[in-house]
Amino acid sequence: MKTRIRRANVVLANETVVADVIIEGQTIADIDSAAQIAVDEEIDGTGYHLLPGVIDDQVHFREPGLTHKEDLATASRACAKGGITTFLEMPNTKPATISVEALHAKLQLASTKSLVNYGFYIGATPDNVGELKAATRTPGIKIFIGSSTGSLLVDEQQALETIFAETTLPITAHCEDETTITANRERVGPTNNVADHSRIRDEQAAIVCTRRAFDLAYRHNHRFHLLHTSTAAETELTADHRNLITAEACPHHLLFSTDDYERLGTLVQMNPSIKPASNHEGLWQALHDNRIQVIATDHAPHTLEEKQQPYPASPSGLPAVENSLALMLNEVNKGRCTIEQVVHWMCDAPARVWDLVGKGRIERGYDADLVLVDLNREHTIRNADQLTKCGWSPWDGETLRGLPLRTWVRGKQVYCEGKFDESIRGTEAEFDHARGGYWATR
Ligand code: DOR
Repeated sequence: MKTRIRRANVVLANETVVADVIIEGQTIADIDSAAQIAVDEEIDGTGYHLLPGVIDDQVHFREPGLTHKEDLATASRACAKGGITTFLEMPNTKPATISVEALHAKLQLASTKSLVNYGFYIGATPDNVGELKAATRTPGIKIFIGSSTGSLLVDEQQALETIFAETTLPITAHCEDETTITANRERVGPTNNVADHSRIRDEQAAIVCTRRAFDLAYRHNHRFHLLHTSTAAETELTADHRNLITAEACPHHLLFSTDDYERLGTLVQMNPSIKPASNHEGLWQALHDNRIQVIATDHAPHTLEEKQQPYPASPSGLPAVENSLALMLNEVNKGRCTIEQVVHWMCDAPARVWDLVGKGRIERGYDADLVLVDLNREHTIRNADQLTKCGWSPWDGETLRGLPLRTWVRGKQVYCEGKFDESIRGTEAEFDHARGGYWATR
């Protein structure tokens, strides 16, 4: 099967060109305006932008065990709608993905249910280093250095030293310091005010833990990716990357602040907490200066009923996969960044951080994971339209300019303007860790 996407603005690694993109089977066969190849199908891309499919390197899809919130079928449909063609999922499911057996079980499940490509992290515990050493077929090791949803936590220094010393997979972590959080919680005292969430999980909690994680990475010469950077101060630390450190930011930390608790309450209760608006400029500047390389969602759905419990019974997390690209296209339209930067942060950089084979770029021979977007299309996010099983969005009611229209997963169109091809399944992402990560592939 050959498809031509004709005369779209094709966003390449360093420039955008008007060209035809030829898809042959599962791969990008050519990028050429003058290609006279006979094709089976032709799509007019005039006026639209063609991007590599988004790679979301931090999602929580809740299967197995928490499927009243989300599952791999509902989440991957939401991804297809949002232009995400590959997701890397976190281990805090039930059971947690803390063994090779559990990892393989998730991969098997995804092969039957996921409309887009997938990969799964293996979670660290204080005593599963044998599993972490044995694991392959994974982007890397996730450590909760600081507890969040679920019971995964590694806080003892000796256990962290062992993981960083004895394993070779790249490590990524949730960094919020338990000791600081506990002290803050005692200081704040009993509370039902969700705004206190950001006083308990404050800037200091994030900074102290991130410094601790970087110290481990430097001393053990171990690749480390900082998840969901929430403070400007952490971006001062990521400047000293030593070819080991990369970092991620999430739309909610870039766009929401503690001012939004009044309007949105527990809907914006997240870990790491949303921070005072004074952090926004530093986070955006770090993206522009390449001190943060990746934008991902930390899609963490909970039902509205769960979220509507009074704080602190309300769980932390919000859904985002079906809106993250649109939110960033809207930022392009606002002049905050360029479309090429969005492609770097959401496609190319995550592919390189995690050594993904054949992904993240529109280049001959790469997988035909693609998304066609209309940069000018206005649309309003509505809870009623959300495909995530939890059925709500913290951006409900927001009108954005810029919308994904069509999504291809390995050459097959899985989504087109509200319609899905439910027969399509994504494939297991391949990780070639010998590539050495982001800094080794500049
Ligand atoms: O707010 C959060 N929720 N942060 C995390 O790190 C985990 C997530 C979840 O799984 O609900």
